[in-house]
Amino acid sequence: MGIKIGNFNLEHGLFLAPMAGVTDKTFRQLCKRMGAEFTVSEMVCAKAMCYEQKSKKKTSELSATAILANVSYNEMPMAVQIFGSEPSYMAEAAKMIEDRSYKGCVADCPPASIDINMGCPVRKITSNGEGSALMKSPELAEEIVRAVVRAINIPVTVKIRSGWDKSNINAPELAKRLEAAGASLICIHARTKEQMYTPGIDLSIIEKTKNSVSIPVIGNGDIYSAHDAVNMIKNTGCDGVMVGRGSQGNPWIFSEISALLSGEEFVLPTAEQRFSTAIWQLEQMIIEKGERVGTAEAKKHMSWYTAGIRDSAQARREIMQASSSEQIKEIFYALIENNAPLEN
Ligand SMILES: Cc1cc2nc3c(=O)[nH]c(=O)nc-3n(C[C@H](O)[C@H](O)[C@H](O)COP(=O)(O)O)c2cc1C
Repeated sequence: MGIKIGNFNLEHGLFLAPMAGVTDKTFRQLCKRMGAEFTVSEMVCAKAMCYEQKSKKKTSELSATAILANVSYNEMPMAVQIFGSEPSYMAEAAKMIEDRSYKGCVADCPPASIDINMGCPVRKITSNGEGSALMKSPELAEEIVRAVVRAINIPVTVKIRSGWDKSNINAPELAKRLEAAGASLICIHARTKEQMYTPGIDLSIIEKTKNSVSIPVIGNGDIYSAHDAVNMIKNTGCDGVMVGRGSQGNPWIFSEISALLSGEEFVLPTAEQRFSTAIWQLEQMIIEKGERVGTAEAKKHMSWYTAGIRDSAQARREIMQASSSEQIKEIFYALIENNAPLEN
């Protein structure tokens, strides 16, 4: 195996999935340290970025958008993902991200690629014709990719679903169109929009998509172990895998997949290593976002780290109710001190 995105070579094709509200800079860096070879930002609204550029607001008042599009050297290679339904705004935003000319930009460098979101199933997004609604408008989807490819020099990648619903499964045909429009890589989440996130994916749609194009195809959906990843690769021929929820509280999944693909041994982290990593993530999020926002946003991550620890329900409740990062750390110190055992 092995994939090339621009100048970057990925040995196994291990991707961290974009997850709004989860895959911030701290988590992307952590997953990279654990073996993720490519990460993707949380999704950025192309139109909002273009509007902000023209607004009279001061840079200091600017918004989440600039923060979401931030790229630092030490987390490369990564993509910035944009969403929208209008080719001109998509192209303009992609160009500003590549040039680092958008208001409030503090990026060290351009991203390795611009990723286009054609998978988001949330009504607020699809009702504007954005995200997975583009699966229903293949011509517009193609036009968007063509406009973005024309506007920038870095590669354009696209994340799609199987289709809109079970009567409209069109990923292989759409992938072909997007390849013709200049896309460099397709990632397919093997569920329809209608399925949202319900368990169970259709591996055959990944295989069909892979066989319909000559650019790399990355498989995504329900990878919770190295075996799930290898199973997807073996059964579909995909060029790499993208892991979303399986990495929450378990960034080691990337080392585990990498070890299995290389025929090396993987040793599960001890409960103590797990909690020390959680504390590192909490501290790093506070450096990035400040005590109040960092602590609030870290809570869900912290409770994910306690999954699989025997009798951890009480610890999770305490984490969610904690009023400071110190309180959360105390909960982990107590778990470490009591040698909190892993289940099974
Ligand atoms: C909380 C959450 C936020 C997500 N945000 C995005 C996003 O911003 N862009 C995107 O393309 N997909 C997003 N997704 C979808 C994931 O990237 C991925 O396709 C999906 O979770 C299936 O993979 P998994 O089964 O490994 O989690 C999100 C998923 C979750 C659970």
